[in-house]
Amino acid sequence: MTSSPNAPIVSNASSAVEQPPLLTAREVRRDFDQRSNWFGARRRVQALRGVSLSLSSGDRVGLIGESGSGKSTLVRLLLDLDTPTSGTINFLGTPYSESDAKRRREFRQRVQLVFQDPLSSLNPRRRVRDAIEAPLETLTDLDQHARRERVEELLDLVRLPTTLLERFPRELSGGQAQRVAIARALAPKPDLLVLDEAVSSLDVCVQAEILRLLSTLAEQLGLGYLFVAHDLAVVEATCDEVLVMYLGRIVESGPAGEVLHRPAHPYTKALLDAMPSLERIQKRVPLLGEPPSPVNPPTGCAFHPRCSLAKERCANELPTLNDGDARHPCACYYTLESS
Ligand SMILES: Nc1ncnc2c1ncn2[C@@H]1O[C@H](COP(=O)(O)OP(=O)(O)OP(=O)(O)O)[C@@H](O)[C@H]1O
Ligand code: SF4
Ligand SMILES: [Mg+2]
Repeated sequence: MTSSPNAPIVSNASSAVEQPPLLTAREVRRDFDQRSNWFGARRRVQALRGVSLSLSSGDRVGLIGESGSGKSTLVRLLLDLDTPTSGTINFLGTPYSESDAKRRREFRQRVQLVFQDPLSSLNPRRRVRDAIEAPLETLTDLDQHARRERVEELLDLVRLPTTLLERFPRELSGGQAQRVAIARALAPKPDLLVLDEAVSSLDVCVQAEILRLLSTLAEQLGLGYLFVAHDLAVVEATCDEVLVMYLGRIVESGPAGEVLHRPAHPYTKALLDAMPSLERIQKRVPLLGEPPSPVNPPTGCAFHPRCSLAKERCANELPTLNDGDARHPCACYYTLESS
């Protein structure tokens, strides 16, 4: 993994091929105008404040951060479901805005999204068979017979019996519905799945099953994913690399074992300390107060009002990821290792 100013370049060994990365974000910002009161006054929410990253086939990356830190906004931009206020998102080196119809079809085939709520992400009037077959019709050249065969293969891949094929979503459990959603996302043989809180609505046992399934599929198919989660144990179980977001910026990135067991940024450490299930190897750092408003982010390091290590410089200057080391970049002047 290498980095540029405030720009983690997430990639593992598999991305060292000639092709450009599958997805690249360069200094992406996204502001939203929100109505702030009944009289119609507007305010500007800075949801993303300069995010750069790149994802290649086979990368298994976790994206973590408190609620409101901008994770879903980033996912929507990466999937071309929304447009950045500034900065660019590229698919195979070409900005989406300049991609022709052929390139866009290739994008929809190679990058797939799995939503948080499996039941609401499936059309209630479509049987399981039709839900999984739909992307095969639009994104592949398979004839009907081949599509039917592929649907059965996919169901087998996500360990569901073919007896479920004629069922409607309401006749499935949450875990079964999420497996159907994963089968549908896998149908066009993507290189990258983007999963935004895809297991958080499921109970712990079903979560564990889905996570095992994802890891197995990643091994079997060489599939990569961007896994957005609040639960750091889930990220630890499934991801090779981790990105940590705070108030619209990436503040730390690196190998999952390193970031989750030897965090350099005080914010990451505080997030870890809020998770009783992970092993503690350093002194606790409390996560003080609430996240600040993205309408008026703090100056300098946005974490400074809550950081127990903050010094004067932190309120005035913006630390970038370059201030950390190249393998484990961290946007902090006084990282935990140096303190
Ligand atoms: N369409 C929108 N209009 C206005 N503000 C928005 C919109 N979408 C997101 N925001 C704001 O942008 C910020 C980031 O939201 P986002 O949904 O990306 O956070 P998140 O990290 O995914 O949070 P969570 O963990 O709760 O899902 C929040 O302050 C949110 O209120
Ligand atoms: S730069 Fe300063 S305020 Fe920000 S995380 Fe580091 S020590 Fe804390
Ligand atoms: Mg979200």
